[in-house]
Amino acid sequence: MSKGSGELLNWEYIQKMQYSWNVTTEVMRLAPPLTTDFIYEGFTIPKKWKLHWSTSTTHMNPDYFLDPEKFNPSRFEGDGPRPYTFIPFGRGPRMCPGKEFARLEILVFLHNVVNRFKWELVFSDEKINIDPMPVPVKGLPIRLQPHKF
Ligand code: HEM
Repeated sequence: MSKGSGELLNWEYIQKMQYSWNVTTEVMRLAPPLTTDFIYEGFTIPKKWKLHWSTSTTHMNPDYFLDPEKFNPSRFEGDGPRPYTFIPFGRGPRMCPGKEFARLEILVFLHNVVNRFKWELVFSDEKINIDPMPVPVKGLPIRLQPHKF
């Protein structure tokens, strides 16, 4: 199917441009993007190298989080952190799709524990291994006492 001259493209026609897309796809197969050396912030990243980046390097950067070592929930008040600096769920098109579900679960859990129990850690200085997720080495045992109503 071909269009007459002066006719505008539309969605339906684009869906039929299979051969043009096959040509494009073949070009990307032979010359895929991102397989050349490139320079980022003065660092040369050679072709075929793999990069490892960890969330905590960004979360602990004092340019983005004042006193990064300090536990300070009020830093999330107002506009909160700058875009792409708080990224426990990733960012962009592959961002965690379970974010809102996780938020619901965490808030329901917190609500019930805080309202129903007093709790204390069995080992107040229990070590936490980060590999790469934080895991308490003894399983974080706690003592729970129901609140008296
Ligand atoms: C506090 C809890 C959670 C955290 C911190 C978390 C974090 C993340 C992160 C960092 C990624 C990678 C994002 C990226 O590549 O940019 C991810 C991906 C993903 N998460 Fe979560 N997640 C959580 C809970 C959940 C839950 C509850 C579900 C499902 C019910 C879920 C489903 C997924 C899936 C399917 C992906 C892969 C998305 C993709 O590759 O397109 N996550 N998550």
